[in-house]
Amino acid sequence: MHIEVRYVKEDDVEVVADMIARLKTLNEELDPHFKVVDNLEDETRNYVRESLGSSNVVMLLAYNASTGEPVGVVRLEIVDRIFYKPRVKAVITDIYVKPRYRRRRIATVLLEKAKEEARKRGAGIIVAVYPANNVIAEAFYEREGFKTLQVEKYLPL
Ligand SMILES: CC(C)(COP(=O)(O)OP(=O)(O)OC[C@H]1O[C@@H](n2cnc3c(N)ncnc32)[C@H](O)[C@@H]1OP(=O)(O)O)[C@@H](O)C(=O)NCCC(=O)NCCS
Repeated sequence: MHIEVRYVKEDDVEVVADMIARLKTLNEELDPHFKVVDNLEDETRNYVRESLGSSNVVMLLAYNASTGEPVGVVRLEIVDRIFYKPRVKAVITDIYVKPRYRRRRIATVLLEKAKEEARKRGAGIIVAVYPANNVIAEAFYEREGFKTLQVEKYLPL
């Protein structure tokens, strides 16, 4: 299967929102502190729409070049770190590959493209955010050479 990557477009809002909703639901399964909202589909749709309209967000879609079927997505935000050099960082907020296409290096290709996009926008560092219990994400980023930069602790109130 030949995979290509392009920017997410208006026409992709439903399919990308669906993938992101699946990712958030998976987070809920991993940890109850990520319990999803009742109107998750609406929220993910708005999230994707707002992301499309933001100059600080990049969303890339991986698709099967012969069928056009979308198979995965990555979303990154470009952030000014203000206090630190390099000032500009890219944050991978979401990366998702459809289950039947996993372990074929699609996320690896998405990450490579995300790094290219981040560099183009002046980022000197790229970080990824995911639930601490997500051992697959941990293995994936570890293999790609990512190290822990910050720690987020929580206390339910
Ligand atoms: C994480 C995810 C994006 C990886 O996508 P993928 O296309 O299957 O990943 P790749 O094929 O590029 O995997 C590259 C490497 O990551 C690691 N990896 C990927 N999936 C793994 C798994 N299920 N178990 C252990 N390691 C895994 C392996 O080191 C793998 O290399 P290998 O196949 O040579 O062993 C995919 O599993 C997914 O969509 N998961 C649900 C969403 C999610 O958890 N996203 C991350 C948090 S936002």
